Amino acid sequence: MAESTRPNAQSGQASNDSTAAASSHAASASFSHQPVMLHEIVALFAGAPEGVLLDCTLGGAGHSVAVLEACPQLSVIGIDRDPDALSAAGARLQVFGSRASTARARFDQLDEVLDERAVETIAGFLFDLGVSSPQLDRADRGFSFRHDGPLDMRMDPDAPRTAADFVNSASHGEIASALKHNADERFAGRIASAIVDKRPFETTTELASVVVDAIPAAARRTGGHPAKRTFQALRIEVNDELDMLTPALEAAIDRLAPGGLGLVLTYHSGEDRIVKRVFRDRSTSDAPVGLPITPAETDFTALRPLAQRPTDAEQETNPRARSARLRGLTRNASTGVAA
Ligand SMILES: C[S@@+](CC[C@H](N)C(=O)[O-])C[C@H]1O[C@@H](n2cnc3c(N)ncnc32)[C@H](O)[C@@H]1O
Repeated sequence: MAESTRPNAQSGQASNDSTAAASSHAASASFSHQPVMLHEIVALFAGAPEGVLLDCTLGGAGHSVAVLEACPQLSVIGIDRDPDALSAAGARLQVFGSRASTARARFDQLDEVLDERAVETIAGFLFDLGVSSPQLDRADRGFSFRHDGPLDMRMDPDAPRTAADFVNSASHGEIASALKHNADERFAGRIASAIVDKRPFETTTELASVVVDAIPAAARRTGGHPAKRTFQALRIEVNDELDMLTPALEAAIDRLAPGGLGLVLTYHSGEDRIVKRVFRDRSTSDAPVGLPITPAETDFTALRPLAQRPTDAEQETNPRARSARLRGLTRNASTGVAA
């Protein structure tokens, strides 16, 4: 497997570090994540042209491994900002030799990752947004309201701000806005008041219990664990998930070769709205209707159905799949890549 890439902490630029590619079977074995809509995604990439599939959220490489096995025309460059995921993925991808390489980077740094490898266009890209099961399940990562651990939530453990830093220092307005904007939390104001009142927090379960108490008793009985939305909102805030999505999608789309295919799996309405808007803007003509001449075709076509859902059987066996939506976009075969 080719060497991995790691962002320079000072500049955010990508630079080579072959030691980061070190992998072990232990890492691979302990990283258990069931890829969502695997069959649908592999079947779609089977029709992609020859070239590179950019897996922008490599995780444990579940999707990438299946694509490499089923699609001989594709090689994979996998990006992740979590070194634990990269280590597990590296171990699983080793068997594919030079067909697979990894890069420790944020997905909005994808241009640097590709430029560094002199890759101009890609045959496809995949974003499988959010967190992996091991990130959620390991108490010491601090993502889970169920497991007691430090209130951390950073996907990249070298990132400067933890969830504790945010809840212990942000204003009431900033906390309420994060809960509302990132997770549509209806009790954002009440929860923010309780957090400001009871802080500082050090652990996940301390925060979870204050959030539960802040929610009216009747509302606690519906819609899953009452702290679920607050934890989702804080994770999105700490990892800046929504702000970097649009530029990353635009950069990936610009790199698609003719016939190339981009797929995105979303898990909540905030990220799905962004993907829907970007794909719609790229695949619909902005020429006014009623012109005397036929306006030029757009370069891209959105996949139909516009938002595909996992089968009932998958939703039953994989709880992570229940909120998933798959959206896709292809660059029409007759168009070129913008300079
Ligand atoms: C849902 S998991 C991907 C699982 C993967 N498809 C598989 O089959 O194993 C999402 C992964 O994306 C990574 N990630 C999320 N946002 C990222 C970003 N902005 N830049 C780089 N990696 C990111 C997370 O660290 C996590 O490992």
